[in-house]
Amino acid sequence: MKKKVTVVGAGNVGATAAQRLAEKELCDVVLVDIVEGVPQGKSLDLMEAAPIEKHDSHLVGTNGYEESADSDIVIITAGIPRKPGMSRDDLIKTNAGIVKNVTEQVAKLSPNAILIIVSNPLDAMCHVAYAASGFPKNRVLGMAGVLDSARFRAFIAMELNVSVENTHAFVLGGHGDTMVPLPRYSTVAGIPITELMSKERIDALVKRTANGGAEIVSLLKTGSAYYAPASAAVEMAESILKDKKKILPCAVYLQGEYGFNDLFIGVPVKLGETGIEQVIEITLQEDEKAALAKSAAAVEELKKTLKNLGY
Ligand code: NAI
Ligand code: 2OP
Repeated sequence: MKKKVTVVGAGNVGATAAQRLAEKELCDVVLVDIVEGVPQGKSLDLMEAAPIEKHDSHLVGTNGYEESADSDIVIITAGIPRKPGMSRDDLIKTNAGIVKNVTEQVAKLSPNAILIIVSNPLDAMCHVAYAASGFPKNRVLGMAGVLDSARFRAFIAMELNVSVENTHAFVLGGHGDTMVPLPRYSTVAGIPITELMSKERIDALVKRTANGGAEIVSLLKTGSAYYAPASAAVEMAESILKDKKKILPCAVYLQGEYGFNDLFIGVPVKLGETGIEQVIEITLQEDEKAALAKSAAAVEELKKTLKNLGY
């Protein structure tokens, strides 16, 4: 039987994710949005591209949730994106309400689904979705590390003039200014980049990675990145749908791992058909541990804001 993925939010990230899911023929797609006509129009448009793109995935757009029932995965992109001058954290009040409401609706109709949260501020929205769904921790995860690592990989490939396919990178921590790119674990054809580039160049790429979202916002001016974010969410969905057991950095609920408790933060995990199948604990040096602790403290601050807002 074909798998079913619901994408909530038919805006830039959601519609692009729906397109990639369908074109990779991973599943049928239900696209949900509150704006009348938009999910219907975008899914029909994508259906009409199918004969040319050569896929038989079925897409349906809706303003309700009935069609989403029994989804294998729900990707939540609903909410507002940031504009120039805004941080991801500025979105918390509006998006917390949206993510709570959306999660309650999808959880009722797809009680066995795996939730992939995209809405920002990402780590805080994972906390909201985890509480609102009542799902076990292996079935609630956030997309950030795959995107941030892809940005780091793209910059490494540009710098060294090598194929992106030869690159591998890990960015851990929260999806904010304190994210933690790990050069020691970032490689080109298995060679750590610390052997291929000067410390100054690595520092410059690390800085550009941490600023990657803002760089796109300042260019677009009316919204934030969506091609790479959609690709990242779909890579996570694909690993789950095909039970590939890829090791990917995702925001997951930690209970003691890496020394953190009751906290969503980005760490490497194994993703398979049951969701998060293992949290991979890699050895960190003192400076890397300190950077991760600083990032965790930033997520703790967001948790306090959520609490003050009544979540
Ligand atoms: P967008 O504005 O293009 O799309 C958002 C969509 O959500 C809109 O179509 C809107 O009508 C819909 N929406 C709002 N409230 C809703 C509700 N209650 N139910 C259903 N749909 C609702 O924004 P974009 O660019 O697609 O970004 C979406 C979110 O993803 C933003 O919060 C953005 O910051 C976040 N994001 C996160 C990334 C990450 O790495 N985690 C990367 C890129 C974006
Ligand atoms: C990004 O990193 C906005 O979080 C989004 O592009």
